Amino acid sequence: MEIMAEAPATIANVAVGFDILGFAFPVLKDRVWISKTDGDIELREIVGSRLPSDPSKNTATVPLIRMKEELGLAFGFSVKLEKGIPLSSGLGGSAASAVAAVLAANELLDEPLTRRELFRYALAGEAIASGGVHGDNVAPALYGGLTMCLESTNGFDIISLPVPELHCVVIHPPQQIQTRNARKILSPTVPLSLYVRQSMRLAAFLHAVHTNDFALLRRFFEDLVIEPQRSSLIPQFSSLKSLAINCGAIGFSIAGAGPSMFSWLETEEDAHEFQEQVNNRFPECYVWASPLK
Ligand code: HSE
Repeated sequence: MEIMAEAPATIANVAVGFDILGFAFPVLKDRVWISKTDGDIELREIVGSRLPSDPSKNTATVPLIRMKEELGLAFGFSVKLEKGIPLSSGLGGSAASAVAAVLAANELLDEPLTRRELFRYALAGEAIASGGVHGDNVAPALYGGLTMCLESTNGFDIISLPVPELHCVVIHPPQQIQTRNARKILSPTVPLSLYVRQSMRLAAFLHAVHTNDFALLRRFFEDLVIEPQRSSLIPQFSSLKSLAINCGAIGFSIAGAGPSMFSWLETEEDAHEFQEQVNNRFPECYVWASPLK
């Protein structure tokens, strides 16, 4: 028997919540097919991308190795991975592969694991790609929608937030950025005044999505800490941000560690207008538009 599962692209940070917030963008997906084998975990085929086929280096198979060890499984898994999400794009491809793999394996095992346990296994896969343990892509890839991922001494709490009725445009320039490199350039400290101003933005965001207050969201949808440190890595960033604001966007920022970027807009017309202008002026970029779901 072979099981297929899929997981969506995700956009981490969402401007105001570095390493905390993320949302699913199911226009793009990774897919995984899994069957049982007598041996170990093997990655028999990768479609759509050049990635390591060594199971100990691929984000889809690392969670399965951990699962086999911890659950004491007497069999292995044979895995086929189809990458629909561009590599090193900031669109959560490594998390999606890991999530699709744990969902498929859990179905093959007749669903013994809770979502919280699946999250923990998928995070082990994501960690080898990003050089740090942050669940802001894995959480929305597994739970869907808009999520908040909170780490404490008891592990992670994943909280699903109301998804605002807005439209999202995602832009992917022809460039790759390794998350681990985009993390290395970040200053380890934040001045106190900036910490306060950014905390206000996260607080305003959380209130706004619970109350559908898009005017409040618009005033505070801004990354004062990470975006200024990373935006110079993306040549098109400042022109695209100005274009988004001119098209009436609520906000525009880097998707995860970049180089992809995203914008939230209030109407479908604004989203399509922005998409069309990006297509005309930046023909080298891929652009997708979709309602948030
Ligand atoms: N929060 C992480 C970062 C997400 O921005 O480094 C990486 O996809």
